[in-house]
Amino acid sequence: MQALVMQTLARTALFASLLFTLPALAQDAGTGDASAGERSWNKCRACHQIGEGAKNLVGPQMNGLFGRHSGTVEGYSFSAANKASGITWDEAVFAEYIRDPKAKIPGTKMIFAGIKNEKEIRDLTAFLKQFDKDGKKL
Ligand code: HEC
Repeated sequence: MQALVMQTLARTALFASLLFTLPALAQDAGTGDASAGERSWNKCRACHQIGEGAKNLVGPQMNGLFGRHSGTVEGYSFSAANKASGITWDEAVFAEYIRDPKAKIPGTKMIFAGIKNEKEIRDLTAFLKQFDKDGKKL
């Protein structure tokens, strides 16, 4: 009887430790997959362009996003909220923003529900990072 209890306890402990380590492993899964990110980019294309010759549409063009200061794309009329957000786009702040744009920049005119899936955000990030400020693939 006692052996059975010990066994059950041991199993529970193993299960619990797996529960704690698995998400950590998943989060550590490294950099995103740019081609999966290209599929995710389909969600943005109605409003944004990227690549050589990309133009501002409903939203600003996305070339060289990482390192860029928010609200600084030439020829695009940003909302006051976006310009005043004081953001310099890096991976962490982009992930926060794209999860819920209106929460990160209240008053933004980007109407987009957000992407909640962490892997999808990483993949999209890898896709976006391919383009330098002239839209050339790095
Ligand atoms: C319905 C149109 C629409 C969709 C869809 C959309 N955006 Fe936007 N986006 C905008 C608009 C409009 C702005 C300008 C926001 C402002 O000035 O408040 C913007 C701004 C941004 C900015 C800030 C740029 C800067 O220089 O400050 C980023 C980053 C961005 N969008 C990324 C994305 C990504 C990635 C997707 C797809 C997952 C996406 N957007 C989908 C319309 C859209």
